[in-house]
Amino acid sequence: MRTLMTATAAWLLTSAVGATPAENNAAMLKLATDRGCMACHTLQPAAPRADGLPPIAPAWRDVSIKYRNDPRAHDTLTRTVLDGSNPAGRHWVGKVSPANMPPQAGTVSADEARRLVNWLLVLVP
Ligand code: HEC
Repeated sequence: MRTLMTATAAWLLTSAVGATPAENNAAMLKLATDRGCMACHTLQPAAPRADGLPPIAPAWRDVSIKYRNDPRAHDTLTRTVLDGSNPAGRHWVGKVSPANMPPQAGTVSADEARRLVNWLLVLVP
């Protein structure tokens, strides 16, 4: 499964039309894949699902666009990665599944969380 996901991620990466340098950063994509982020997230917005359901989690390209002018985004999103999303204050209501993002603190270190957030915030310059 992990191999399949890595292969899919690699395919997405090489086939992405007009991919930005950040999206071509294989080391960061590998870290995100190894830490399980890509089980729920995608880089590019996913095609509509055949069953009509929304994607599980926001595409990171969309996250990058949403927060690119928010100077506090590095800190708030790093906290969200470590602590999980706030069920009472969701930011993607109606756009993604009603599932919450579980805390990732046991999966990523604080430093990794910060590096992942730094990376995904510059996906779309
Ligand atoms: C089990 C599924 C799942 C996994 C695994 C997951 N996420 Fe998420 N993530 C979500 C969902 C669902 C949301 C939308 C939460 C909301 O509506 O506020 C989200 C939102 C986010 C956001 C935007 C938060 C906001 O407030 O807008 C960031 C950044 C993020 N995830 C990063 C990560 C990183 C980095 C990892 C891996 C370490 C990861 N996620 C793993 C499900 C997941």
